[in-house]
Order: sequence, then structure tokens, then C-alpha cells
Amino acid sequence: MRATRRSFLLGAGLAGAGALAGVRLGRATGTEQQLIAAPRSFALAGATATDGWGYADVFPPPTLRVKRGETLRVRLVNRLPEHTSIHWHGIRLPNRMDGVPYLTQPPVEPGAEFVYEFSPPDAGTFWFHPHCNSIEQIGRGLSGVLVVENPDDPPFDADIVCLYRDWHVDDAGKFTAMTTDEGAGRAGTMGGFHTVNGVSAPVIDVPAGGLVRLRLLNLDNARIITAALAEQPAWIIAIDGNPVTPVAFDQWQMGPAMRLDLALRAPDREGASFALMNTFLAQPLTLATFRTAGPAKSGRPDQPPPLPASPIPRPDLDHAETLPFSFSASSATALDPQDQLPDLSALQAALGSKEPVADILCRPQRIFWAINQRPWPGQTGSRIPPPLATLTRGRTYVFELINTTPHTHPIHLHGHTFLVIESNKRTVTPYDTDTVLIHTKERVKIAFVADNPGDWMLHCHIIEHQDTGMMGYVRVA
Ligand code: C2O
Ligand code: CU
Repeated sequence: MRATRRSFLLGAGLAGAGALAGVRLGRATGTEQQLIAAPRSFALAGATATDGWGYADVFPPPTLRVKRGETLRVRLVNRLPEHTSIHWHGIRLPNRMDGVPYLTQPPVEPGAEFVYEFSPPDAGTFWFHPHCNSIEQIGRGLSGVLVVENPDDPPFDADIVCLYRDWHVDDAGKFTAMTTDEGAGRAGTMGGFHTVNGVSAPVIDVPAGGLVRLRLLNLDNARIITAALAEQPAWIIAIDGNPVTPVAFDQWQMGPAMRLDLALRAPDREGASFALMNTFLAQPLTLATFRTAGPAKSGRPDQPPPLPASPIPRPDLDHAETLPFSFSASSATALDPQDQLPDLSALQAALGSKEPVADILCRPQRIFWAINQRPWPGQTGSRIPPPLATLTRGRTYVFELINTTPHTHPIHLHGHTFLVIESNKRTVTPYDTDTVLIHTKERVKIAFVADNPGDWMLHCHIIEHQDTGMMGYVRVA
């Protein structure tokens, strides 16, 4: 990439510069990594400093990389003024490592630490973020990319992470409102400063003639994008981390939290360029430009070899139980009386916590949305309703996800990778994912084996929808 000072400071994810700013991150080799969640000053809008929150002094923090099956051990140190946690989005891991305060672990209080340790079973492009007060915590910059490598992946000449997100900042780099009732009750409150790897429309070098793997991530809190490449053929090789048989790429709609791995052969000519676009907008927007550099690599195939499949259990559709989940607006104005404050000392004992579990609601609660008529607002908080459903461990379930609203919702299930099998509105070639977009009036069927015991969140990943009621969990027992 072109090393302007700004792109150097902010583009750590591009350059893979794990040594920047003394951040102890990089390849996991069984040793412990540290993520310090703390107030950080980012240079987002020009030279102006933005008072962000981050895991490193640059945004994005250096990509965490681990080999499939190896142990990733990450110590979260909380230097924020409020409690936090880390959820490892898309990773099939033990429930107590899932990072949902109150539900799967005690909140990590200011000054406290928590060690996450797990061995990701599936290779691919994943990410991590807090699971409390996420409008603000993610909005201010707490998120990062986790790449799980498979030693059996075919070789690429370049492996490039492109993390898309908007920021709610003004021209002076000061944060503006990250949520409004109007946005939360509709499609979300959009940020106006669009970035890839923390930089507005960066230019990213790719090896001329090289076989390039692009890992696109939409880590925005609200915006749905349609990713497209201008004048450059490419293949989709993985969706939301999960390998697929390579298929020609035209464009792909990505809601918040969704990922797409593309493979392409860069033009042979040095200095040639092509753009990553968001064509969702009436006026398509260039998100990043790729430019070829170096002597052309010769003999690279035009079409990429497939990635090895992930060991995801195959659903047994002949013996599946179907459960409906309707995603709707909510007319509720108060919490359900069934939602009891849990017995906090019992929760403390169940979670094996030495510290008392504090009764803190993350933010005042607004209710606009519900799942199966049940709103659960407030980003978990300490108020935990009964599960939306209790699943028998080892059985196959088909969830029928029904959108009765005029908006699109990216629906995410924790702890399991599911197969999208059918929609009433479009033809689906079944694929594995952890987050699926449900359009207005759409009914989408997903199937999975409930093989991972615990309480697993099911929610919309437009964070304001999640925070204002479109959240629940299923119990696998
Ligand atoms: Cu990306 Cu409930 O999470
Ligand atoms: Cu939603």
C-alpha cells in the first residue's frame, strides 16, 4: 500500500504490521495474546484526533491469526470506564468463552481481566467485538479481525483484509450521535465517514499478476452494503468464513457482521487499478482502490482452487424439528414481567466468579423490536428472560426466520454454523453461515445440528435493533 503517514498509522491491518505501537499481537503459537480495551486517540478524519475506544493505538488492531485447531489464548484487560467482554463472532466455541455478559460470563469490570481460550475448529475470516453497550463500544472502535488459517489452504500471493465500517464523526473528528430513536426504530443511525481499515478510500497494493485473497468484512453497526469490484473478475471462495465451491463474483449484499472471501488474479500490468465499490447506494461509492505493484507474477491460475471444507456437522433434514421465529416491531412499552432480575449471587456461583456480579443495566432501555413477540432490550444487561426455545443437544433444527417488518435484518446465531436452505423470496443455493439477511416479508429457513450445549444468543446484528429488543437466546441442553 502507499505509505502516506495517515495510511501508515491507520492501516496496520493492511500491512500486517503487528509490531506497531508496541502491540503484542500476531500469530498465536500457544502463547498468550493481550487485548487491552482502553480509550485511544485515533486519527480518523484527517489529522484530527478522535477520542475512540480500541484494542490498539491504531484502528483496526493488527489481525489476530491462529491456525485451525490450535489454541488461541487472549487476555482481555479492561481499562474502559465501564464493563466489557469479547464475543468471537462466528466461532464454534465452548459457551463460557462466548463473551456475553451475564449470560455466559460475568461482565469484565473496569480494571479487571478475563482470559479467553479456545481452539477454533473451522478456518476462515471471523471477527471479535464486545457484547454490551455495543452501540457505543463498537461505535467508538472496539472490534478486530480474527483469521483462522488452514495449513491446507491453497497458496495465495497476497492475503488482504478489508474491514469496512462507518464512523459517527464530524469534520473535526468528534463523535456525533451513534443512536437516535428514529434510526433505532428504522434502518439504523448511519455514520457518515466511510472507511476501509480505518482509512477513507485507501489505495491498497496488490502483486501484479498475483493470485490474491481478499477478506471483506462489513463491521459496521448499521449499514448494509452491496460489495462489488469494478472491472475485475473474481470468485467467491468463502461466505461468512465458510468455504464454498468457487463461484463467479458479481456482487454480494453484506449486512453488519458479514464477511466474504474473494479470490482474483490481479492484472499483469504494473500500476493497473480496480475498485471495491458499495453499489447498494443510488450513487455507487468507491470504498477502496487496489493497484498492482511489482514485476508480474507469471503462471498464476485465472480460477482459484477451492478451499478445504470446514468440519461442520450436516443437518439431518429428514428428522428435523421446525421452529418459527418472527422478527417484528414491538408495541411493548415496558419489560415483560416474566423478565426477572436473576439471583445475582446464584449467577455469581454458576459463573464461577469470585467477584460479586454487579447489577448493572448497560443503558436505559428503549423498546422497538421483538422476537416472537418478546422484546429483550438493553444489550443483555442483568435482566435475563427465559430462552426463546430449548433445543435437545444433537438434534437437527430448522429455524424459520420470519421478517414482518419493512426493514432488512441480519440475523445472527451464536455458537453454531447453520445452513441457509430456503427462502420464500429468492432461490437459495444452500450455504453455511452464522449471519443471514432477512429482507422485508421474507421467510428464510436455516438448519443446523444443535451440538453445542449452552445458552446462545439469537439477534439482529443492526446493533440498534438488538439493543432495542430484537434479541433473544436459545438453550441447547
Ligand atoms: Cu457479532 Cu451477538 O454478535
Ligand atoms: Cu434488525
